[in-house]
Amino acid sequence: MVEGLIPYLFPSRASYVIFSEFFDALQAMVTEAAVMLSHTGEHSMITLEVNGQHYELDVNPDVPLLAVLRGELKLTGTKYGCGAGDCGSCTVHIDGKPERSCLIPVGKVQGKRITTIEGLRDDHPVKLAWEAEQVPQCGYCQPGQIMQAAAFIDRNPNPSDAEISEAMNGNLCRCGTYPRIFRAIRRALLEREQIRRG
Ligand code: FES
Ligand code: FES
Repeated sequence: MVEGLIPYLFPSRASYVIFSEFFDALQAMVTEAAVMLSHTGEHSMITLEVNGQHYELDVNPDVPLLAVLRGELKLTGTKYGCGAGDCGSCTVHIDGKPERSCLIPVGKVQGKRITTIEGLRDDHPVKLAWEAEQVPQCGYCQPGQIMQAAAFIDRNPNPSDAEISEAMNGNLCRCGTYPRIFRAIRRALLEREQIRRG
């Protein structure tokens, strides 16, 4: 079922396809810009641990982690949305905490454990719940939503509805999939509890 603003903003499928293609093109441009950005200014060798792999990269340590993930490492599951820390589409885990990769200089995350959506295991309860609840619509915001939710349930095994809302508050979805996101988080919590009890 289609939810949110999409039916009002895009009454015909054709207009929605054009809209989606525009965002795909924007992503391609952003990745190109990220590659260029990471090679501007002063370079130095930095070491990163991403999804359990170690990388040595000759990049500008001041560029955002997001630019290096997408441009250098080709981990394009992490999305560029606002570039200002306001939408959550670039959320990754740094030492298990959800962080906005568009805001963090890559030089600041050396020696830390970085996990992107590609590194979250396929049988993680959040990924399974997202599939079961058919959360994504256009899908653009979903990697960030999943990473935010996964970090949240790791720390909060028994949250209230208000705590879930508060934790997910900074992750925006232009398609308005919020009710399904909420249901998926509840499902993931239940699933994990059942696994814990055996
Ligand atoms: S792109 Fe990072 S918060 Fe929007
Ligand atoms: S599913 Fe489209 S922006 Fe969230």
